[in-house]
Amino acid sequence: MKNIVVLVSGGGTNLQALIDAEKSGIIQGGKITCVISSKEGVYALERAKNSNIPTRVIPRKEYSDSVSYSKAVLAALDEEKADLIVLAGFMTILDECVTSKYAYKIINVHPALIPSFCGEGYYGLKVHEAALAYGVKVSGATIHFVNEKADAGAIILQGTVDVEKDDTPEILQRRIMENVEWKLLPKAVSLFCQDRIEIADGKAYVI
Ligand code: GAR
Repeated sequence: MKNIVVLVSGGGTNLQALIDAEKSGIIQGGKITCVISSKEGVYALERAKNSNIPTRVIPRKEYSDSVSYSKAVLAALDEEKADLIVLAGFMTILDECVTSKYAYKIINVHPALIPSFCGEGYYGLKVHEAALAYGVKVSGATIHFVNEKADAGAIILQGTVDVEKDDTPEILQRRIMENVEWKLLPKAVSLFCQDRIEIADGKAYVI
């Protein structure tokens, strides 16, 4: 059984999708053993507690820079003996001290079709605002490995939704979450836990 550590910063609907998928047997070969939040008081922590999953809070605001914050996160991940780290709405970029030690062991969900609307500054609703401002007709979400560059690691799974004429960022966000994120994130986690993701030439393939 792989130890899955989920990192969160907010409402935690993707965390909930993972919890539900574990309970219903969709996630095979892994168990969520800890939830780490970068903020106190977020609802994701309640979701973890409701399912008796141990939680830790490592507040980003208590650290002066990304390196010192990442070192604290790294120590927690090591203590938790993490086999897989899932960034599920985690709004902080982790330094290379984490991404190199856990190379191809950190999975992120990004709410757009990478390489569009991604990288530093593109997170949460800002991503959907940018997609609507550009006028794209299709958007979606990407599940990918995390490397030292923001949203640039190997893509594992992507899924799409149509963009409708009257969409607001909130409506588009919800459509992408319901139709793509909440389905593909648990799927990718299960594939990882069953050793069914292969890396070749820096790209990820499902086997
Ligand atoms: C999700 O849409 C996720 O894809 C996005 O934030 C939302 C978090 O929702 N993540 C990013 O933008 C990361 N760059 P949740 O807390 O309800 O899972």
